Amino acid sequence: MSSKITIGLFGFGVVGEGLYNVINESKIQDAQIKTIVVKDKNKSRSIGKDHFSFDPEDILEDESINLVVELINDAAAAYDIVTTALKRKKNVVSANKKLIAEHLDELIALARENDVSFLYEAAVGGAIPVVRNLEEYYNNDLLTSVEGIVNGTTNYILTQLAAGGTYQETLKTAQELGFAEIDPTLDVDGFDAKFKLTLLLKHAFGVSADYRKIQQIGIRNIKAADAAYAKEKGYKIKLLARAERIEDGVLGYVAPHFITNTNLLYNVNDEFNGIVVEGAFADRQLFYGKGAGSYPTASAVLSDISAIKYAYKYEYKKATDNNLKLSGNFLVKVYVGSEFVELINEIPFVRIDEVFQSEGYSYQTGWVDFSELQKFQLNSIPGLSVIFLPEPILHKSKAKGLEVSKKQYQVEF
Ligand SMILES: NC(=O)c1ccc[n+]([C@@H]2O[C@H](COP(=O)([O-])OP(=O)(O)OC[C@H]3O[C@@H](n4cnc5c(N)ncnc54)[C@H](OP(=O)(O)O)[C@@H]3O)[C@@H](O)[C@H]2O)c1
Repeated sequence: MSSKITIGLFGFGVVGEGLYNVINESKIQDAQIKTIVVKDKNKSRSIGKDHFSFDPEDILEDESINLVVELINDAAAAYDIVTTALKRKKNVVSANKKLIAEHLDELIALARENDVSFLYEAAVGGAIPVVRNLEEYYNNDLLTSVEGIVNGTTNYILTQLAAGGTYQETLKTAQELGFAEIDPTLDVDGFDAKFKLTLLLKHAFGVSADYRKIQQIGIRNIKAADAAYAKEKGYKIKLLARAERIEDGVLGYVAPHFITNTNLLYNVNDEFNGIVVEGAFADRQLFYGKGAGSYPTASAVLSDISAIKYAYKYEYKKATDNNLKLSGNFLVKVYVGSEFVELINEIPFVRIDEVFQSEGYSYQTGWVDFSELQKFQLNSIPGLSVIFLPEPILHKSKAKGLEVSKKQYQVEF
């Protein structure tokens, strides 16, 4: 493409307005926003009304626009915008993890058919440049795992819980500070992290995962008693999106974890994000930074815009080379806590390591078959907290030696 980039921008909210300012301030050469399409005709704006249109065709039909930047908060409308733009041979940059997780393979195919770029660095980890690094830098290393704190809202809440707050109090403060939505479900139940994990799985391991089938456990059931357990053991609780090579494929899930201070994510606190990439040769590396916010997210969008200038495209080489699939063939080491022992007893432990019972609170730790855990809608069982313990994974072929401490839990592998 010509090196001159003429941008049609959808959305002028937190990120869209940030991008407008960042482009003006960065004085990026040869890239300019020609048209901005938004939705609400009555909203007051920080720049003049003549900058805005309300008709998507003002961008999509304009042949002089060679890049559509999609920064709206409506995944269904974004689908129409992005697919139409790609079909009309326009490059697309998006930050919309929900849209991309839901339609990734279809959007990749459309971009390929039309020989245009489709980039989305800002969709995972905000300002943290993890997508392109996984795609390019870690192209040759044998990656073993990627684990990340990729949702700032939940990390903020968990940090406050560790400092003695309650879940409800901290959620309210997070909403007042603008870190959490009024309906926090997507964040606290782990959906947002799962959308991002879907993209990480693709770029780290070449795995096409149906995000609906990825197990996610959120943080809404975590209680002060769990935070007290963490404190006593020297752990912190972090909501992790994890992908790891295992014997027969790749595991992928989102769940709260107790982590020790040897984990590089231990000091990723408040609304910050961190992603640890582990490779056979590079060992462990930590990406750390702002996972959201106007300018940090806009900076990742700007980086994609610059990449479009040299016609950069993700190649998805690992998808072609590896042919890996998601596997549920492993056991997880978990802590299960509740006020009600009968709820804990519903979880089919393969082995129980620790049992604690008191009048107000009980917990058990031990090993559970992940595919059994997947049968529970754990976010919807109020009062039951399920938190993965450090070093939580054991492949089933290595589980034969697990001592079974209670007869009724005996299983054959
Ligand atoms: N906020 C962050 O820190 C962050 C970080 C990473 C990724 N993202 C992603 O970036 C995207 C934008 O997020 P945001 O926080 O900037 O959202 P936002 O502040 O809520 O702004 C949304 C914008 O989208 C516009 N819009 C909604 N539906 C539209 C439609 N059908 N046609 C045209 N414009 C439409 C709205 O128009 P009006 O102004 O007329 O209402 C508004 O300008 C989302 O996909 C989000 O997941 C956000």
